[in-house]
Amino acid sequence: MRAPAPAAHADSPVRVPTRWRKEVERILITEDEIAQRIRRMSRGIERDFTGREMVVVSLLNGTVLFLADLIRNLSLPLRLDFIGVSSYGAGTESGNLVITKELRLDVRGRDVLLVDDILDTGKTLVRVMGKLRALKPRRIKTCVLLNKAARRVEDIEADYVGFEIPDYFVVGYGLDFAERYRNLPFVGVLHPDVYKQSPQPPKPASPKRAGARRKG
Ligand code: PRP
Repeated sequence: MRAPAPAAHADSPVRVPTRWRKEVERILITEDEIAQRIRRMSRGIERDFTGREMVVVSLLNGTVLFLADLIRNLSLPLRLDFIGVSSYGAGTESGNLVITKELRLDVRGRDVLLVDDILDTGKTLVRVMGKLRALKPRRIKTCVLLNKAARRVEDIEADYVGFEIPDYFVVGYGLDFAERYRNLPFVGVLHPDVYKQSPQPPKPASPKRAGARRKG
């Protein structure tokens, strides 16, 4: 069983930078907290993967910042590839997942570390795990920055978790709303006005998390 991950509470004393204050209500996880946690997670991954070259498989697009920081902290031989998966398609259900980029590296017999930014309903990881398992890797371990357990509908947990978070609509550090805010260096709580007033966002993945927040 994995060690419990720290829980993020939205009471950070760090103020949202002025530029983002209208859109981001508050900071949930600061840049420093993220950096510190990733260093710790990396040590755990190194202990588990010692001795063999691993294949890191990262899910597009939300993992960009997390992945970059994670792998530069890993002192291990690794190869890197991506799978594109998104909730495009007919309807807004997160079950309607579309693969936008296929894996190119051969993972047969390899140790795989599957990286995602957030584990929410679990539908994405379950779908991708199914695809990967069919390629017969030696083993697959999963690593997510954020775990929103309250939203889970699939029976899946990640092996490495950065932070447990409540059911807030979070953006930043790779996570988006309508493809925006991925560049924020922290994880923040999106102001409800942003997603309530937003015209039809360009992709249906976003209302999925907006809906989650409204329920919470
Ligand atoms: C988001 C996120 C995860 C997934 C988690 O992806 O990046 O991959 O949802 O949700 P789930 O556990 O309910 O399946 P999204 O489709 O929004 O694409 P993105 O990574 O490009 O933001």
